[in-house]
Amino acid sequence: MADEIETLKSEALAANGAAPDLPAWDANRVAVLGKNGRLTALLKELGKTPPEQRRERGAALNRLRDELAAAFEARRRELEAAGLEARLAREGADATLPPPPAPPGLIHPISRTIEEMAAIFGAMGFSVGEGFDIESDWFNFGALNIPAHHPARADHDTFYLPGTRDGRPLLLRTQTSDVQIITLLAQDPPLRVIAPGRTYRADHDATHSPMFHQCEGLVLDRAITLGHLKGCLIDFLRAFFGIASLPVRFRSSYFPFTEPSMEVDIGWNRRTGELGAGGDWLEVLGSGMVHPRVLANCGVDPRAWQGFAFGMGVERLTMLKHGIADLRLFYDSDLRWLRRYGSSPFAPAMLHEGVAP
Ligand code: DAH
Repeated sequence: MADEIETLKSEALAANGAAPDLPAWDANRVAVLGKNGRLTALLKELGKTPPEQRRERGAALNRLRDELAAAFEARRRELEAAGLEARLAREGADATLPPPPAPPGLIHPISRTIEEMAAIFGAMGFSVGEGFDIESDWFNFGALNIPAHHPARADHDTFYLPGTRDGRPLLLRTQTSDVQIITLLAQDPPLRVIAPGRTYRADHDATHSPMFHQCEGLVLDRAITLGHLKGCLIDFLRAFFGIASLPVRFRSSYFPFTEPSMEVDIGWNRRTGELGAGGDWLEVLGSGMVHPRVLANCGVDPRAWQGFAFGMGVERLTMLKHGIADLRLFYDSDLRWLRRYGSSPFAPAMLHEGVAP
């Protein structure tokens, strides 16, 4: 009897230790502990054992069951670990492969809008010019027909800087209109230039930031008219917003450096914020025919040349296009926001594909 138990034990342990894999291991476990297993059979036979031996034999069988269960469990762990080792060895990393590419950065929505402006105006024959963040008050104001003490200066909340250039106070430019002067001094007409860039005013709330961006435009030729201005800006706004039927309205206004001057409105729905329909008007940019005095200030003969200029807020147009309510989000550097509004560096703005992302 005892031999029978010993035999079962040694055979079961031998098979367990020799099992090369989990299926073999499981077959042995079932053959011993399963419903029809050898140990299970012995336990079932306990009833037939003479009562005086039953107690001792029962205890021996239960001990064996616990012992085997523990041995089986240990072997299972061994086999699983070995299986994992083998798989890792088989599938091990190939150190000769190139590393997975780092996720590409995204283009900031402000940069994207500037790219789109360059694409649209580029298709109309404009080149892209640049000015300077630090400017003398002559380029920012004086040459643009905004003399000292002109009320327009007070509107601009200008950051003045210590020091002078050519005897003129230095400042952070409040508008990109300085590039009109830079361009007129540096290039002979005819010319078509846009100039996107940073501008500064001491103002900070949900729709104003002390640093923001504008895009200036300047066209000068022999016989440029208000009709050219209107056609150019209507085409631009419809392409930029991707709405072919976008209503555009020109409303007379005042800027010191243009005459006549016009503010440009687009149609929208004030209640829903939807652009292109709804019967309400929203101002999006300023424009006008270049003032003869601006040309004369730059040594250009206003009787020989005339043209138009315009200026628009890059943040403002971006907010309208993408439904962004708070301008401060552009500069919070919140990666979740940037991932939502950023655009792929591999899909540059191209007019023939429509610039809308
Ligand atoms: N510089 C103006 C501003 O900051 C915008 C502007 C209006 C620019 C009319 C222009 C223009 O070139 O013609 O408010």
